Amino acid sequence: MKQGKIGIFDSGYGGLTVMRNIVNVLPGLDYVYLGDNARAPYGNRSFETVYQYTLESVNWLFDQGCELVILACNTASAKALRQIQQIDLPKRSDNKRLLGVIRPSTESIGRYTKTGVVGILGTVGTVNSETYPKEIARFFPTLLVEQEACPMWVYLVELNQREGAGAEYFIKLHLDRILSRNNQIDTILLACTHYPLLEKTLNKFIPPNVQLVSQGLIVAESLQVYLDRHPEIRTILGSGATQSFYTTDDPLTFETQASIFFGDSVRVQHVQIG
Ligand code: DGL
Repeated sequence: MKQGKIGIFDSGYGGLTVMRNIVNVLPGLDYVYLGDNARAPYGNRSFETVYQYTLESVNWLFDQGCELVILACNTASAKALRQIQQIDLPKRSDNKRLLGVIRPSTESIGRYTKTGVVGILGTVGTVNSETYPKEIARFFPTLLVEQEACPMWVYLVELNQREGAGAEYFIKLHLDRILSRNNQIDTILLACTHYPLLEKTLNKFIPPNVQLVSQGLIVAESLQVYLDRHPEIRTILGSGATQSFYTTDDPLTFETQASIFFGDSVRVQHVQIG
């Protein structure tokens, strides 16, 4: 019987914005979500730490029967994806797959801009890795890319401070900074899966000529294309339309937040990792 699941991993709540879109696009599959809330945010941590935490979490998802895991986290995609794909996966004999969120975003970002100048907002880890400018240059060599790290934004989401004067201060600070670098920016990619959860406050400060692009739908559509191109994976996936949610921190807090972010009420279990 086909029982393979799709694992979705993030440091915390952000990956739910990706999972929502994936479930909408591919509703019949079986999903396991893991949020490493106990160790979030990852964004200000070293390469080694992000790699170690991500590897532990991905291995846990594989142990739950996931055949394919999506790193629904830019920081993990920037700092751990390649190493796990090249070093750790080949050591296994079970042909598990791991995908990230950066590649689908960089493949499509050029289609959104008219001026040819795009802004990337992400965590310190994502921005410092320079993954976005390098990857975008491969697909859209003439695009100009401005980056800005927003170190407080993931805390605003994880600590449920998405609105109000504090959130507004930090959101305006980084939007003003990136927009002042180049007045031709007409497209800003929210290159952290937590950031769409700040949309209400972001929309207060975003000028009308600038569009915000979230990754959820981009990643979901790219997964659909990937599964069409890889029938050997598609055929081992179950079709029970189940969704399980796990967090490394308090499940009740996660349940309350996740129900808001995911749009459906969810049952969450605690898991100890690492
Ligand atoms: N959602 C993660 C990302 O896309 C947040 C990273 C963090 O934990 O700081 O980068």
